[in-house]
Amino acid sequence: MAHCLGSVMLLLPLLWLLLRSPSLAARNRCVDAAEACTADGRCQHLRTEYVARCLGRDAAAGCARARCHRALRRFFARGPPALTHALLFCPCLDPVCAERRRQTFVPACAFAGPGPAPPSCLEPLDACEHSEICRPRLLAFQVSCAPAPSASDGCSREQTLSCLRAYAGLVGTAVTPNYVDNVSARVAPWCDCGASGNRREECEAFRELFTGNRCLDGAIQGFDRGQPPVLQDHSHSHQDREHILLQVPSADGPLKECSLFSMLLVLALQALL
Ligand SMILES: *[C@@H]1O[C@H](CO)[C@@H](O)[C@H](O)[C@H]1NC(C)=O
Repeated sequence: MAHCLGSVMLLLPLLWLLLRSPSLAARNRCVDAAEACTADGRCQHLRTEYVARCLGRDAAAGCARARCHRALRRFFARGPPALTHALLFCPCLDPVCAERRRQTFVPACAFAGPGPAPPSCLEPLDACEHSEICRPRLLAFQVSCAPAPSASDGCSREQTLSCLRAYAGLVGTAVTPNYVDNVSARVAPWCDCGASGNRREECEAFRELFTGNRCLDGAIQGFDRGQPPVLQDHSHSHQDREHILLQVPSADGPLKECSLFSMLLVLALQALL
């Protein structure tokens, strides 16, 4: 390996490039999550199912919301949580990623409408309380995502996972929540409290379970923390990374015999990143 030292030295600038490559640091985590789901038979099957129900011929004559919702509930109930949660909570720092996250399920059919303006939150709340599917899920969400007084940053560590699970359990119910835009991680069901009359407080309290919930915010924003730090530049994708890697074996002379070693080194480093 000693004769490879030279080539390793030559590789250092390359590694430096790799380390500061925005494509590595800021890859679109929601695209990654979608690819991971596609690669998993079960996840892919269940996703195809709800896309068909929410978008396909079922939705052609308008949105068959009940069927779309049922397929979504199956996706989150039966899909591998590691994959379904990654789709729903992929961390984003830019609008392209966040828009993709917002479109995790088919918001036009599952989330918003039928009218152009959101209804009073009392509507989905009342519908939920009269639904045997929705009521226990909303209750579980309230309990699991209740901010713990002792935890300064939202909810206790043990609570985080059950909060995210309970949140995912609401997707496909009368109170299906979603990201409200593509520049934040704020979530809410599609409703407001403008016209809630004498039940305004009840309406606000319900909406704030989503919009003013430290535990939920912390759980979503902390999802998968510890991954590579994300830089702001996100204009490049996997191609850059592959391009850099492909340069390695093309080196000449004595470098050639070391290229495999060098490749492995780069790959190993990349895996560490
Ligand atoms: C973000 O949302 C706005 C408003 O809905 C939309 O106009 C814009 O195209 C979205 N950005 C991306 C990157 O999809």
